[in-house]
Amino acid sequence: MIKPIIVGNWKMNTNSYEAYEISSYLVNHINEINSVDKVICPPHIYLPTLHNLVSTSNLHLGAQNMFYKNNGAYTGEVSALMLKEYCEYVILGHSERRTIFSENDDLINKKTKAAIINNIKPIICVGENISERESGSAKNIIRNQILNSLKSIDIDENITIAYEPIWAIGTGIAATPEIAQEMMKHIRSVIKNDFNTNIANKIRILYGGSVTDNNTLEYLSLPDINGCLVGGASLDSKKFSNIVQMASKL
Ligand code: PGA
Repeated sequence: MIKPIIVGNWKMNTNSYEAYEISSYLVNHINEINSVDKVICPPHIYLPTLHNLVSTSNLHLGAQNMFYKNNGAYTGEVSALMLKEYCEYVILGHSERRTIFSENDDLINKKTKAAIINNIKPIICVGENISERESGSAKNIIRNQILNSLKSIDIDENITIAYEPIWAIGTGIAATPEIAQEMMKHIRSVIKNDFNTNIANKIRILYGGSVTDNNTLEYLSLPDINGCLVGGASLDSKKFSNIVQMASKL
């Protein structure tokens, strides 16, 4: 069985006090759960402090983004080389990065390569917008995002793919379990047919988009899902703990 993973994407939220409070709560309440990988992705600025806090626990840290160069004249950017001291994971290609910061698959491919070289596990987000879904092109869009983001990469099970339909992110309109399962299955078949059958059976595929502790169970029981990428609900330490606990009972 593939070990499930629950990832909390805090986005640009929390102050330093809240970041510490949420993390302390999680260390105190879900540290004993070993059957699930638990990852929180706070803003970069809190990573060193939270790293000290979680270093003796089994709560993992992830970054929400990074640049693909190791260092140099790239004002405002943070590299994998810098992050690897603190993080095991990095979210790449989140739809907010794609839409607000104009990131494309080529850039995400470069970032993915840089993460892998630096031993940071990439969580690559893919997802269609509402008009792409309504026009029936969602599966093609997702396939192209995967092919382009993972181009020339010898993939292994340390790569995670998160299916996050844009229309479900932060809207409270979560994808139905049927829609989520259909796309997870599609993603696994793309990995199988275009990359490697063996890895397709090991890679973790997540659902993200308005996941809460009220709807998690519906998703976690789907055959092709190996966890969730949680945005808003990950800022509520109780809700996030509940979600992790549900994942541990599968
Ligand atoms: P949401 O965000 O859970 O608040 O919808 C998910 C995400 O953007 O990763």
